Amino acid sequence: MTVGIVAGIGGFFALLLIIAESKLMNYGECTITINDKKKITEKGGSSLLTTLNNNKIFLSSACGGRGSCGFCKCKILKGGGPLLPTELPFLDEREKKDMVRLACQVKVKEDISIEIPEDIFAIQEFAGKVTSIKDMTYDIKELTIELTMPKEIEFKAGQYVQFVAPRYEKSRQSVTRAYSISSNPDHIKFIELIVRKVPDGLCTTYIHDYLKEGDTVNFTGPFGDFLIQDTHKDMIFIAGGSGKAPIKSMLEYLKAHKSKRKMTYLFGARTEKDLYHVELMKKLEDDLEHFEFVPILSKPDEGSKWSGKTGYIMPFLKEFIGKPENTEAYLCGSPGMIDAVIKELHNLKISEEQIFFDPFS
Ligand SMILES: Cc1cc2nc3c(=O)[nH]c(=O)nc-3n(C[C@H](O)[C@H](O)[C@H](O)COP(=O)(O)OP(=O)(O)OC[C@H]3O[C@@H](n4cnc5c(N)ncnc54)[C@H](O)[C@@H]3O)c2cc1C
Ligand code: FES
Repeated sequence: MTVGIVAGIGGFFALLLIIAESKLMNYGECTITINDKKKITEKGGSSLLTTLNNNKIFLSSACGGRGSCGFCKCKILKGGGPLLPTELPFLDEREKKDMVRLACQVKVKEDISIEIPEDIFAIQEFAGKVTSIKDMTYDIKELTIELTMPKEIEFKAGQYVQFVAPRYEKSRQSVTRAYSISSNPDHIKFIELIVRKVPDGLCTTYIHDYLKEGDTVNFTGPFGDFLIQDTHKDMIFIAGGSGKAPIKSMLEYLKAHKSKRKMTYLFGARTEKDLYHVELMKKLEDDLEHFEFVPILSKPDEGSKWSGKTGYIMPFLKEFIGKPENTEAYLCGSPGMIDAVIKELHNLKISEEQIFFDPFS
C-alpha cells in the first residue's frame, strides 16, 4: 500500500515535470547537421525523430516513436545529451562506442550533428486511394492502395512502409505502424498490404473496422533490408499469419523473373481457418520451376479432414534443408517464432550469415 502511494506520488511529480518542461522550457532554435553537409534549423523541444520527420527525413520507426522497436537508430556525433536508460536494451557495445542513439528518445535541446545512411534521403511520403479491402481470414485483411501522390513507388521485395492511421474514435492521436508490402515490386503504381487485427490495436482496429474502399491513406517508405540475396542458393521461407506479406512479394518477384532457385515455403497456422492465399501458392508451384508450399497446422480442428502436416514448424525444417551450406532462410512473423526457428536452423548448421528475418515486433 505504502509502496503504491509513493509510486503514485512519484508518478504525479514526473507528470508535472513533463508538463512544466513542455510549457516552460524554451530551447530556442537548434541546428541539426546531417552527414556534415545538410543543415536544418528548428525550434528545440521535440524528439530528434519528430524534428527530422517534420523536415521530410524519415528514419525507420516501427513503433511510432514509443521507444519500443529500436528501429530509429542514428549516429550522434555531437550534442544530444547522455545515453538514456530507455535506449540501452536496443544498443550493443559496438553501437554504444559508435555513438549510436535512438532518435525518438533524444530530445533536441541544442545543436546536434548526426550521421545517417544516404539512402534515407530517398524515403518519401505517399498518399494513395484504397481500391480494395478483402477478407483473407477472420482476422486478416488484404488492402490494395493505388498511389495518387506521387503516383509511383520504387521498392524491393521484402521492404515495408510506415502506415499512418489518423486520429479516430478509439485513438486520440494519429499513430504510425510498419506493414510489409506484399505485392511484386515490378508493380509501381500500387502496393498491397496484409494486415492482421491485433485486439484493441490502434492501427489494426482502424484498418479493419474503420477504413473503407475509396478512402485516402498516407504512408512513408520504403524501409528495410529484409531482401532477396543475389545468390543461387536454395531458399527456405518460414512465416505464419500476416508474416506471409513480404514472402508473397518475394515469391511473386522471383516468379516474374523466372527464378530457377529451389524454394520451399513452410507456412505455420493453427487451424484451416488461418490458411489463406492457398490457391495463389498452388499457382506459384505451377509457375515456378522448383517451388513447394507446405502449410503446417499446429491445432487442426477436431474432426477436420486435414491430411497435411501437423504440429510446430521446427521438427519439419530438417526434411526441407538439403545442404545447409547451400541454403538461405527467410523468416517473418512474431519475434518468438523467429527466435525458435533460428535456434533450430543453427542446430541444423545453417550459419547466421544465411538467415534473414523481419520480426513484427
Ligand atoms: C518491419 C515490420 C513489418 C511489419 N509488417 C506487418 C505486416 O505486414 N502485417 C501485419 O499485420 N503486421 C505487421 N507488423 C506489425 C505492425 O507494425 C503492428 O505492430 C501491428 O499491426 C499492431 O499495431 P496496432 O497499432 O494495431 O497495435 P498497438 O496499438 O501497437 O498494440 C496494442 C496492444 O497489442 C500488443 N501487440 C502489438 N502487436 C501485437 C501482435 N503482433 N500480436 C499480439 N499483440 C500485439 C501491444 O503490445 C499492445 O499491448 C510489422 C512490424 C514490423 C516491425
Ligand atoms: S521509433 Fe521505435 S524505438 Fe524509436
